[in-house]
Amino acid sequence: MRAEIVGLGVAVPANVLTNADLETLVETNDQWITERTGIKERRIAGPDESTSTLGKQAALRALDVAGLTVDDVDLLLVATATPDYPLPSAACVLQGELGMRRGAAMDIIAGCAGFVYALTTAATFITGGMAETVLVVGAETLSRIADYTDRSTCILFGDGAGAAVLRAGERGVRGSALGSDGRRTRLLFTPAGGSRFPTTDRTVADRHHFIIMEGREVFKGAVTEMAASSLTALERSGLTLADVDLVIPHQANQRIIEATARRLRTPMDHVVTNIARYGNTSAASIPIAIAEAWEQRRIQPGQTLLLTAFGAGLAWGSAVVEWTLPSPARPSPEEPTQPALPIIRAMLDGSLWAGREKVPPIAVTGVGTGGVV
Ligand code: ACO
Repeated sequence: MRAEIVGLGVAVPANVLTNADLETLVETNDQWITERTGIKERRIAGPDESTSTLGKQAALRALDVAGLTVDDVDLLLVATATPDYPLPSAACVLQGELGMRRGAAMDIIAGCAGFVYALTTAATFITGGMAETVLVVGAETLSRIADYTDRSTCILFGDGAGAAVLRAGERGVRGSALGSDGRRTRLLFTPAGGSRFPTTDRTVADRHHFIIMEGREVFKGAVTEMAASSLTALERSGLTLADVDLVIPHQANQRIIEATARRLRTPMDHVVTNIARYGNTSAASIPIAIAEAWEQRRIQPGQTLLLTAFGAGLAWGSAVVEWTLPSPARPSPEEPTQPALPIIRAMLDGSLWAGREKVPPIAVTGVGTGGVV
């Protein structure tokens, strides 16, 4: 028995931040960003959006495709680096928003590798007999921890969510390989707001609640580990590179994707990329890329997909999936967009949150009816 993907969904904010917009915020230009990253624009959450609101939209779409409801879900896994609150998990917040009154919910924190970690966890719960239906959501609002005064990082990140529903089947996830290296935590981290450096006026004034990254080192690690874990995942699946129809890499940087493809001796027309439109959406990038490629009928039943990702931790992972979900009857219609620059400007001067700082009152929205994983 394996775990098959039986539903997929995507949700991205309507607000678009272009390279030209970034030119008005930091000393950068469209040519540098395009040549060094491949990114042209990214989506930015509005003041009423959060990781769980985006995750909810993606999850409901994925359940709809699967022909299931929240009542069928035994386990909800949310891969994110940007939960709604420091406590509790984003998964529990999303569980509440979905009105899911049974099962279990937990977060998977593995930076940009979060979706591959969560997919592997889901498959393990299913094949181990611990769950029949697992909802995996990769959701991020990285704009909330990106420093729009730091040109070396703010150009990279975007917001969005992707979701997949998994159930037992004959094909699906064939094998995966996960890895991490805690000696390299400080190459990519958010220093303050945790137990090491709790929030103080000083940490806020010093902008220590935003992502800090040693880009060049992360770049090198990404190419090496994504390629190596891909080969291990293939070997564990009893397959070789020649069996792979499509590679769906984490969308971190077009150059990282191309360098990884070269190492895997895979031509770029067998690699799914959408980084130009969304930037790096961390744990959301692979499920968004899969769902879009599936909607565009680029992914077909019978194909073998190789997913590979790398990010903060440092943590990385790859998974091999034998595809079974038939293409949708028609692609979703394009949704209207609007400029994101006013949101970023209001975030920078603090006015975006004016009148919104009030923490919502404690509320009970329903009592569980039981059912455990
Ligand atoms: N615009 C113009 N110039 C810039 C910009 C910018 N936005 N950012 C940096 N520069 C300058 C630098 O100051 C430097 O100038 P100098 O030579 O005068 O010192 C020059 O450009 C080169 O800088 P590098 O950092 O060497 O540029 P690089 O080619 O490495 O690209 C980048 C930087 C895009 C960040 C790249 O290193 C990268 O993509 N790294 C990996 C990022 C990643 O994958 N993160 C993992 C996931 S994130 C997560 O887990 C949440």
